Amino acid sequence: MKFFLDTANVEQIKRFNDLGLVDGVTTNPSLINKEKRDFKEVVKEIASIVDGPISAEVTHYEYEEMVKEARELSKWADNIVVKIPMTEDGLRAINTLSKERIKTNCTLIFSVAQGLLAAKAGANYISPFIGRIDDMGEDGIRLVSDLHEVLFNYDYDSEIIAASIRTNKHLENAALAGADIATIPPSIFAKLFSHPLTDKGIYLFQKDWEEFEKRDK
Ligand code: G3P
Repeated sequence: MKFFLDTANVEQIKRFNDLGLVDGVTTNPSLINKEKRDFKEVVKEIASIVDGPISAEVTHYEYEEMVKEARELSKWADNIVVKIPMTEDGLRAINTLSKERIKTNCTLIFSVAQGLLAAKAGANYISPFIGRIDDMGEDGIRLVSDLHEVLFNYDYDSEIIAASIRTNKHLENAALAGADIATIPPSIFAKLFSHPLTDKGIYLFQKDWEEFEKRDK
């Protein structure tokens, strides 16, 4: 499974990239806004740190404007993937951009039908929002496994990015459901290493080792 970081924070990206665990990065207008930095500057910096795909989202929602912006974003670095919202204009833009070999990530996917349309339009990545689906009392992981089955049935190449991940369980279940990628916020990434029994185990090993060393003297 590939891990993307869902953030535009360069310090956090460097922190986890240094572990060799980061395969890509996803951003969106909300994440860019948090950083209070120039959009182009921050995306170019991220693209220079991480070798894998870096999603930068369009900020226009009408077809012509979206395609124009996507063409511009794709020039910022070789590894840019343009994030396009799941709308009729968005699908049309994805179709146009795929013919120009500009990579796209169709975002804000909340149903199997939306995912299927995005794959058929030529999106390289499709992003179901697990946490936001769960927020509505529905089952985000079920959507991931259904999309996985549908893409497999029809042999689509689009990769599923499990997005809006809020818990460790979301990541584990997305992996079980067949997501190709999970895009993980740094706050959740940091929690993936730890388990109370790991901490307890280390504590006990240290304690026993101190006892052993004292006895040995
Ligand atoms: O990748 C999508 C993600 O940024 C949305 O997450 O927690 O705002 O639903 P969230």
